[in-house]
Amino acid sequence: MPATWILGIESSCDETSAAVVRDGNYIASNVVASQIAIHRKFGGVVPEVASRQHLEKVTFVVDKALKDAGLGFDDIDGIAVTVGPGLIGALLVGVAAAKAYAYALEIPLLPVHHLEAHISANFLAHTDLAPPFICLVVSGGHTSLIHLRDHLSYEILGATRDDAAGEAFDKIARVLGLPYPGGPALEELASGGNPQAVKFPRAWLGENSLEFSFSGLKTSVLNYLKRNKKEGREPSLPDVAASFQDAVVDVLVEKTILAARLTGVRKVALAGGVSANSVLRELFQQKADQEGLEFYFPEKKLCTDNAAMVACAGYYHYLVRDFAPLNQEACANYPLIVDKL
Ligand code: KG4
Ligand code: ZN
Repeated sequence: MPATWILGIESSCDETSAAVVRDGNYIASNVVASQIAIHRKFGGVVPEVASRQHLEKVTFVVDKALKDAGLGFDDIDGIAVTVGPGLIGALLVGVAAAKAYAYALEIPLLPVHHLEAHISANFLAHTDLAPPFICLVVSGGHTSLIHLRDHLSYEILGATRDDAAGEAFDKIARVLGLPYPGGPALEELASGGNPQAVKFPRAWLGENSLEFSFSGLKTSVLNYLKRNKKEGREPSLPDVAASFQDAVVDVLVEKTILAARLTGVRKVALAGGVSANSVLRELFQQKADQEGLEFYFPEKKLCTDNAAMVACAGYYHYLVRDFAPLNQEACANYPLIVDKL
């Protein structure tokens, strides 16, 4: 059978990315134009600035992805694009570009949900991995436990009731005076602290709950800092960062292990920007080993937003001929279709 080459485009937040993936598992190229330096000045992503940057970079990253892969447009079989969820102005740029390429090249447009793209990073990192497995997707916009019954067939076991884990990292990092993006900066600060220094609350939300909540933890950290300030004490910021990180990681790992126990599924995976966190990866590995579970996670550069994971997810849409129409719109709160089979 001839190889299938998918060109992926990602522009849902602050990375403009294009990639070429062969047969859903080999990354021929993965170009990411990061906007971090630009948004850092503002302490977070400014949506209008992000859209403008995507517009300036999108054709450049596509050309570079093809060049790096040693391919021409004629070699591409389908264009996969993140349709949502994400920042609408940012998504619009990727979707408009993808539609134009698909139209001009007369090849299918493959609609990808951002969550399925993150999950797919695991197929790129582990070519032997096959569903069913449970994936914890933890990013700036999501904290979801998903049972991947098969490719394109998902059961949502639980999600956050309020903040996403990455959002909580970013908010606490900002309070601690750390630069954007907060997650990696907080992890670095925490590496010099004691995770047992402050016992911050964990929101278990009842026995066997697979839902998450991080707003109480966030308030508790803020109150702790305020109380110390009022009483004229200067708490150790590395200790606060490490204790906060410990509280988040503890809940994420325990609930994923619980999901495996409740469903009887013996494989678990991690995905999304927060899964780049080393403390999370280590605790996960340790607990999965104790439970006798197989544990998968992508290399760090595939955890944060990139187009290779979009192209990989798009490949499975290609296989079942799930093609989007050329009037496909970007969608800020695009729902995950749980069964496309
Ligand atoms: O998946 P992603 O690149 O974009 C979204 O889809 O949101 O995830 C970005 C999120 C941000 O909240 C960022 O602070 C967090 O992932 N993040 C981390 C780490 N690296 C990125 N959080 C904790 N520790 C890290 N090392
Ligand atoms: Zn993401």
